[in-house]
Amino acid sequence: MFKRIPGTKDILSEEVACWQRLEKISRDIFSVFNYQEIRTPLIESASLFNRSLGENTEIVQKQMFIIQNKEGLYALRPEATASIVRAYIENNLDMVRKFAKLYYSGPMFRLERPQKGRLRQFHHIGAEAIGSYDPNLDVEVISLLDSLLRGFSIKDYKIKINSLGCAKDREKLKQILEQSLKSKLSKLCADCKIRFKKNILRILDCKQRECQEMLRGLGIEEKYLCSDCDEHFIDVKKGLDKVGIGYEAVPYLVRGLDYYTRTVFEVTHKDLGAQDALGAGGRYDNLISELGGDDIGAIGFALGVERLLLIAESTSQARSPQIVYLITLGEKAKNQGLQLLDSFRKENIACDTDYEEKSLKGAMRQANDLGARFVLILGDDELKKNVVTLKDMNSGTQEEVRIDGIISKIKLNLEPRT
Ligand code: HAM
Repeated sequence: MFKRIPGTKDILSEEVACWQRLEKISRDIFSVFNYQEIRTPLIESASLFNRSLGENTEIVQKQMFIIQNKEGLYALRPEATASIVRAYIENNLDMVRKFAKLYYSGPMFRLERPQKGRLRQFHHIGAEAIGSYDPNLDVEVISLLDSLLRGFSIKDYKIKINSLGCAKDREKLKQILEQSLKSKLSKLCADCKIRFKKNILRILDCKQRECQEMLRGLGIEEKYLCSDCDEHFIDVKKGLDKVGIGYEAVPYLVRGLDYYTRTVFEVTHKDLGAQDALGAGGRYDNLISELGGDDIGAIGFALGVERLLLIAESTSQARSPQIVYLITLGEKAKNQGLQLLDSFRKENIACDTDYEEKSLKGAMRQANDLGARFVLILGDDELKKNVVTLKDMNSGTQEEVRIDGIISKIKLNLEPRT
């Protein structure tokens, strides 16, 4: 028997309702913030990600699904920011309107070691605002993230923010780290010893307690920020205070992608365990020009849908539409039933029937399992009288209703569909 590839998931019908709910809520919230949807391909040139995320990042080094072919190397997208910047430049969106607010949702692929909340195919809901350095845009984007989480009824999340400064500041931070850690190398964990040589900023992100304590001891804080970047960060924090968004400024927050500059942020939730990030984002002011576009600022974020659902599951229940279930008894009734179902559907009333020749008792059980709001029974007796037996599954009461009046009767009692 064939099995799923580890780290991938079949999303079965019961769960799909929760996905659709998240998708609908996010679409509504994106439109309130005036973000337009963009859909980019799942495959891109591998070099797009090497260049954008950074050759020495974990994703590029170890986690890309690469497809080798006659034209070169393609990759299944590990994230969407690079693709969206490529699309923004390639489709001349900068000519149409320099400033673009875009949102997206869809699968991403990373060849990771699977565990709870860490998959090889997972989904992002994200946004990218391209074309401005304004700190108020950082506030808007973080506020959008906050609104989505509240829209999904997620509670007790934490928004952590930091500023990595401009490219020069990042270099300065790297040098400070190099200088301060040079003599303490032996005390770092094995991974950080490698990071020291390959990608020193990642040391700040190490989860090992000893490494974290050592870093705190260095007292780096925001010393590496130039006055412009410092001011930008102060404005972002002031703006967040103004709109009442709770955040924690965490000096050691870095992100695993090289394109970030200035503001970076992460949302965590304690109930997620080891993989506690629900989402993350930040500014990438140099990426557009690095990929061949203009010198313009940009900021965005992505939320991990599977992780959102792990948390949202405990906080809310998805509601399925109220369904009408038709049970027919005999060949004649079955044919009449076909028409009845058709007329319900034309009136946008969700309905279903039995296709497995179940007994009346079996069909009633099926209606119950489906959570039907009403059951209609149509047999020879009913046909003769031109009626249908209507059973209200909430009250348990039963009555005969004329066939030509059944739609209006049901419509009167069903909650409107959203
Ligand atoms: P990221 O931090 O790599 O950022 O991913 C964002 C979120 O995706 C994570 O916080 C997590 O919730 C989820 N996630 C990441 N990897 C996995 C996985 N293997 N399994 C399940 N969920 C996962 C980005 O991808 C950036 N593109 C975000 C961004 C947009 N920055 C600026 N604009």
